[in-house]
Amino acid sequence: MPLRSVIAGCGGCLPAQVVTNEELAARHGLDTSDAWIRERSGITRRHFAGPGETAASMGAEAARRALAQAGIEAGEVDAVIVATATPDSAFPATAVHIQRLLGVTRGFGFDVSAACTGFIYALAIADSMLRTGQARCALVIGTEVYSRILDWTDRGTCVLFGDGAGAVVLRAEERADGRGILSTHLHADGRHADILHVEGTTGPLRMAGREVFKHAVTKLAAVVEEALAANGLPREAVDWLVPHQANIRIIEAMGRKLGLPPEQVVVTVDRHANTSAASVPLALAEAVEDGRIRKGDLVLLEAIGGGLTWGAALLRF
Ligand code: COA
Repeated sequence: MPLRSVIAGCGGCLPAQVVTNEELAARHGLDTSDAWIRERSGITRRHFAGPGETAASMGAEAARRALAQAGIEAGEVDAVIVATATPDSAFPATAVHIQRLLGVTRGFGFDVSAACTGFIYALAIADSMLRTGQARCALVIGTEVYSRILDWTDRGTCVLFGDGAGAVVLRAEERADGRGILSTHLHADGRHADILHVEGTTGPLRMAGREVFKHAVTKLAAVVEEALAANGLPREAVDWLVPHQANIRIIEAMGRKLGLPPEQVVVTVDRHANTSAASVPLALAEAVEDGRIRKGDLVLLEAIGGGLTWGAALLRF
């Protein structure tokens, strides 16, 4: 029987502080409006970390929820792989801080830097390591505090991001029923590094929104086709699209491209804004928690972000 990486549980963590578009505009004296932000991005509000909330603390909480859903003890975890662009410290890695917060004392842990595509990268690495026997049970986490790297005078970027964390427990299992990660597809093209980047290590974030938008629509469309073709599956086989949550217009374009009705596309951007590497696992956790995504469903994940980096993963949940 083939060794597969199966998602055993998912969890999310959003900070308590919720900030609406109006509140954000008033707080920073921005020349913007709720109507503009909603119409151009689909965002109505976002969560921001409060004092003491960090990438590690939120990532650990999301991981606890994922472990609880999986019915797995922290002691069984032998790999922690964290995607983040906003780590607690240069080192130790956020993964190691999370290990400590969870009481995990064995195996290994490290961070992955691929901006908004980070969770797909982390999932691909974990999948490879599980299938080659380097670990048996991995926590794969995306966690971000972009509120700490934004320029509050730049209305073109500061209205688009939020904070949060999402996690999955990935377990190596011999399965004959087809469940597990089917394939992952990673890309990067450093020629476009300038259009979305963080200055130095502490920010602020800079983005040429219109250019990123154009790349997003074409590159995401290509990578989802690549994932389906690699598995010889038609578009109609997809039960759920769980896309990166940057802009509702990009998400809707991807849904149309796949011929999926809006009910089969998981959307959180309206309430979370763009939480970068946390957005895909947060959306996945929400749709699993509320019963939309069920065992055996074919789920397509995709994301694009600074680098440019982009990628997709196809899995049978
Ligand atoms: N409120 C009001 N006006 C704003 C604004 C705001 N918050 N931000 C920008 N504007 C203005 C611009 O200054 C511009 O004015 P001008 O025409 O007088 O120069 C106008 O709105 C249009 O700006 P533009 O950037 O072309 O708008 P857009 O329709 O492309 O939407 C984004 C902007 C950022 C929402 C959109 O480009 C986007 O989502 N890009 C992709 C972002 C993304 O996916 N990023 C993450 C990938 S990980």
